[in-house]
Amino acid sequence: MAYTPHSSFGSVFNVEKVRADFPILHTAVRGKPLIYLDNGATTQKPQAVIDRISRFYQTENANIHRGVYELSQRATEAYEEARQKIARFLHAPQAREIIFTRGTTEGINLVASSFGRRFLRAGDEIVLSAMEHHSNIVPWQLVAEQTGAVIRVIPMNDAGELMLGEYESLLNPRTKIVAVVHVSNSLGTVNDVERIVKSAHRVGAKVLIDGAQWVAHHPTDVQSIGCDFYVFSGHKLFGPTGIGALWGRAEVLEQMAPYQGGGDMIESVTFEKTTYAALPNKFEAGTPDIAGAVGLGAAIDYLQSIGFENFEPHEAELLKHATERLGAIPGLRIIGTADKKGGVVSFVIDDPPISSLDLGTRLDQLGIAVRTGHHCCQPVMDRMGVPATVRASIALYNTREEIDALAAGVRQVIAEQSARRPRPTAPQAGATLRLEFPEPAGASPQAVADELTDLFDFLGDWNEQRYPQVIEMGDKLPPMPAELKIEPNRVRGCQSTVHLFARKRPDTEDGVDFIADSDADIVRGLIAILERLFAGQSAREILAFDIESFLKRLGLDQALTMGRRNGLASMIQRIRSYAQAMASAEPAVAKSPSEVT
Ligand SMILES: Cc1ncc(COP(=O)(O)O)c(C=O)c1O
Repeated sequence: MAYTPHSSFGSVFNVEKVRADFPILHTAVRGKPLIYLDNGATTQKPQAVIDRISRFYQTENANIHRGVYELSQRATEAYEEARQKIARFLHAPQAREIIFTRGTTEGINLVASSFGRRFLRAGDEIVLSAMEHHSNIVPWQLVAEQTGAVIRVIPMNDAGELMLGEYESLLNPRTKIVAVVHVSNSLGTVNDVERIVKSAHRVGAKVLIDGAQWVAHHPTDVQSIGCDFYVFSGHKLFGPTGIGALWGRAEVLEQMAPYQGGGDMIESVTFEKTTYAALPNKFEAGTPDIAGAVGLGAAIDYLQSIGFENFEPHEAELLKHATERLGAIPGLRIIGTADKKGGVVSFVIDDPPISSLDLGTRLDQLGIAVRTGHHCCQPVMDRMGVPATVRASIALYNTREEIDALAAGVRQVIAEQSARRPRPTAPQAGATLRLEFPEPAGASPQAVADELTDLFDFLGDWNEQRYPQVIEMGDKLPPMPAELKIEPNRVRGCQSTVHLFARKRPDTEDGVDFIADSDADIVRGLIAILERLFAGQSAREILAFDIESFLKRLGLDQALTMGRRNGLASMIQRIRSYAQAMASAEPAVAKSPSEVT
């Protein structure tokens, strides 16, 4: 399909014309038209980008910077032209200040590593904010470990706004770098980056801005922001995955050591000494994602052909509409209510309690794609006192009707949940704890597995019959007492909150008793299956049982999303490690209050 720029856009934004550019928006999932509201995770790709990448491979593909021949020169030109486009897009003073990366994460790692090695010493301070994505926390922790630098954190208020007065009092001559997100991916907060930069510069610190959630929604001007580094990912900007860019001030980049060594980043190499290429090549070791860079250039062209000024009001209107529509749903609580927000609405359902994972799963069945979980922002979840949220994040191609469908979907799930029999409540904390551990469901895990397989074979289709069966099994799971929902019993790696408590089964040689619980229906169902298989069985039998084949026979390996499979694997791993400890007669590893009987 040939690409026609949106030259006809006037001041009236035509969302249907934009939607026509995105083939995937016209597909169906689960038999329903796709409603894609996970743009914070990644955006869909317009035909123009798809075509450009395809054209690159059809007519320009060669390695860059190396060949004397025509094709290599064409590829080099296309790649360098993309760099120029990004420089103009960010209003960077010079194109050589644009470094191609794999995305935001690699951009931050590059700066943390290279800037850190050159400028950070023991006792120096790195300032981050309480709302950073893990990719703007962990690289700094790594460099802090290596250099002895210390991390300081800008706090945020209950609305999810950074407390800039507190920030300013954190700054001092030891502050060497401040790294802050432009728009929070988990809360939507837009930060006052200009003020953050000015204050940091007063004490001589450099500033990195994580623009992952900004660049697709508003024009970016690194010069007016005044920062020293700006990073973003192409795939959140309607471009391909695996490509992104770092802009850095030439005078700072020039002082930093290369991030990786290899081809294309050197001036000359001998075994005694290597000298490095000038910017930007110094930071681009090896063959880059050439087609990705070209595709990213096409994405920028596409966005500019529409014009930020044309779609900004549309996105602002969608955010307002989503906030009103969702905010009006009884029992729903929006997390992140900053005055200045980007197109992100994060929320939880308090009444009736529905885990984010369950809500996301049920919305998926209606064809609505939203994100659930901690959004790679565990400190934000801790600060807001929630384990996870559901997040709807919008892009220029979303419509009011899609927001309405989301709100209707949420209402429908709440109504269905309210109609279900409530779970029995857990014993109150403080009451004497008398735990009832399930009896073995059969002679061995294998015997139970055979029974379960027969049952599931009989049921047939996953969506129609097997899922409801799993959920029903989970409904019968007794709730876990609050005393046992403590950190040592928490199973990490699950998308919902899971606790598992095990002990040696009294009067047995190596029997394993355990109970577990989760805030998500589907996970409780999986726990019920694991309890049936393993509870009360001998450690040796548990360890000998081939759980992988069993999950395959049930079809669970295919029916579960990757995240849920990983969560299930973490629970299985926890049970197996108890069994291992018991089989090798090590002291009990379970943590429990002393009065557990
Ligand atoms: C604010 C923010 N920073 C960093 C990242 C990491 O981006 P990537 O995975 O593309 O490197 C994301 C991705 O969700 C993000 O939203």
